[in-house]
Amino acid sequence: MNPFPDKKYSVIYVDPPWTYKGRINHNGSKLTGSASDHYEVMSTEDLRSLDVKSISETNCCLFMWVSGPKLDEAVLLGQAWGFKYKTIAFVWDKVLPNVGFYTLSQCEICLVFTRGCIPKNRGTRNERQFLSKKRTKRHSEKPHDIRERINRMFPDTHHNRIELFSRHITPGWDVWGKDPILEPSDTSETSETSGTSETSETIEMPEISDALNFWISADLFK
Ligand SMILES: C[S@@+](CC[C@H](N)C(=O)[O-])C[C@H]1O[C@@H](n2cnc3c(N)ncnc32)[C@H](O)[C@@H]1O
Repeated sequence: MNPFPDKKYSVIYVDPPWTYKGRINHNGSKLTGSASDHYEVMSTEDLRSLDVKSISETNCCLFMWVSGPKLDEAVLLGQAWGFKYKTIAFVWDKVLPNVGFYTLSQCEICLVFTRGCIPKNRGTRNERQFLSKKRTKRHSEKPHDIRERINRMFPDTHHNRIELFSRHITPGWDVWGKDPILEPSDTSETSETSGTSETSETIEMPEISDALNFWISADLFK
């Protein structure tokens, strides 16, 4: 596994490759279209063993994506990395539902944890929690609007930010992951019911699209 950067961050944004191993469909057939059909997944034990603490500032916010079935594990994971669970930072309505075991599943949530205090100086405190935006065809892709909301919450340049398990380059963010880097597929859209008009700047892609296991410093884009 690629080591983490030798650097500390006050904002860490993570979308773990949760495993749903052993799950079956509601009709008893093997679960198809699951994460492991699209990328490597990790056990909760392996996720817990990641030394996220080593890249966390004393005062640090951790934003973590989780689907409903993994909610309990997500809280424990954040705690294992040295953080305290605070609240649900974002709720993403994907507009199109998936068949679930109990109800049609349509939302994913992004939890926020802190280590120490909330990093200063803070920016906006009125970012909307809810975002309704149609999911893209790319499995697990999260809307770029959320990175933009986090940027506004922590706008100062000394707020080193990193995205773990990333598949995208985002200006101002270090990124760490193992999948080839993709161009964000949703940045030209505007969120539908977020209450704000969010558009993204064009992102220039570096020559690293074949890289497997990478961490890229935001300094490359200065
Ligand atoms: C849930 S996806 C991230 C999706 C991303 N947030 C997006 O919006 O496109 C998880 C990613 O973690 C990667 N991954 C799996 N195992 C990994 C490992 N051991 N080290 C680094 N990345 C890994 C997967 O290949 C996948 O790209």
